[in-house]
Amino acid sequence: MSVTLLLVYGGQPGGRTERLCAAAVAGVRATGENFELRERPALQASVEDLLWAQGILLATPEHFGYMSGALKHFFDRSFYPIEGRTEGRPYGLMVSAGNDGSGTITAVERIVTGYRWRAVAPPVLCVGEPDATALARCEELGATLVAGLETGVF
Ligand SMILES: Cc1cc2nc3c(=O)[nH]c(=O)nc-3n(C[C@H](O)[C@H](O)[C@H](O)COP(=O)(O)O)c2cc1C
Repeated sequence: MSVTLLLVYGGQPGGRTERLCAAAVAGVRATGENFELRERPALQASVEDLLWAQGILLATPEHFGYMSGALKHFFDRSFYPIEGRTEGRPYGLMVSAGNDGSGTITAVERIVTGYRWRAVAPPVLCVGEPDATALARCEELGATLVAGLETGVF
């Protein structure tokens, strides 16, 4: 049976966050064909998407020391509907920032602690233009999520 993955992302269309996402998706695809992936801009992601997904990838730019409003809105509207129904889900986080990113990581980690999700790897923080190292880490994050779900590690 294939593993089900949801990628929820904020940021400008065609921006840096989307480049991180593309790398993560490449990592997912490199694992083979044993997955189903839904890629959703945060404003379009639904509670049903979240309940469907076995693994979750989150990506956001930092805006004013915090995650994008779109991703925060996704958390705001999904918290009560999914309460107690996604506990233990593995997730990975990618953050694109101009010069910092720490506030965003802290805030997302605090929220997902409330959801009882488990990080599959440390967050990928990319400051400035995504370079080869950051993209490789995103790729690895996507691949790790699939591999761990396939093998039952998560
Ligand atoms: C409204 C706004 C607020 C921002 N605030 C921060 C910030 O607080 N800290 C930071 O490091 N970068 C900040 N940035 C820079 C973005 O995080 C950075 O350019 C990011 O790579 C943009 O990702 P995107 O191209 O996917 O939108 C801000 C950008 C915008 C547009």
